[in-house]
Amino acid sequence: MSTSSNQDPRLTQSAASDTSLLAAHEKAAGKQADEKGNYKLLPLALLFGFSGLIFWAGTYLNRFSGQFSGKIFDENSHPSTGAEVVAKIDPIVLGKKQYAAACIACHQADGKGLTGVNPPLAGSEWVNGSEERLVRIVLHGLKGPIKVLGVEYSAAAMPVFGKVAGSGYSWSDEKIAAVLTYVRQEWGNKSGPISTELVTAVRTKEGDRKEWSAEELLKIQ
Ligand code: HEC
Repeated sequence: MSTSSNQDPRLTQSAASDTSLLAAHEKAAGKQADEKGNYKLLPLALLFGFSGLIFWAGTYLNRFSGQFSGKIFDENSHPSTGAEVVAKIDPIVLGKKQYAAACIACHQADGKGLTGVNPPLAGSEWVNGSEERLVRIVLHGLKGPIKVLGVEYSAAAMPVFGKVAGSGYSWSDEKIAAVLTYVRQEWGNKSGPISTELVTAVRTKEGDRKEWSAEELLKIQ
């Protein structure tokens, strides 16, 4: 018969009591990684935060970037240099303004001129006739006798409106075309418009020259 006292207590079941087993398990369990305890909220919150920010930025740029074009908003740009924003001015409106500013003093508001001094534009064969002659009269001026509606004028001279170095008016081709277009349809005149291109062409062809005489003009068709 063997006595229990002779046996190694670790081999006896009674040696591992319930309490010691629980304690051992608890100890072991305590050393294991506690996933709940190590769980951190901050990185996840940042991930969501930045994802949201990137999404918002993408949407914003998609709507408001203007394809990153420099033309969308440029505080240094000059609107007049952009061809698409240059407003087309009605030649009649511009022409009326030019007439009131310069021609009206001599040719009068009713276009009838001043008897014996300034010939009429209303019904004038020069206004309603050859475009080439008409453009030359205003570009370079006119001097000497001229017959208008059967009456001869030679008392005064028609001033130069094209650019002449140091003197006279310096009207652009556009302004000259506009004023002539205006006088050709005012006071009962019913002639077609004068194009800026024609004024440019005549200016280029004739250059800076002295005023015309009616005789010279009549040789031009
Ligand atoms: C300083 C006065 C004066 C001003 C300003 C003036 N003209 Fe004249 N214009 C004359 C005179 C004078 C004649 C005739 C010249 C001559 O006798 O050779 C004339 C002749 C003309 C003629 C040819 C004759 C006719 O009656 O058809 C036309 C066209 C004309 N002018 C248009 C104009 C237009 C357009 C303007 C404005 C851009 C203008 N003139 C501004 C004095 C003026």
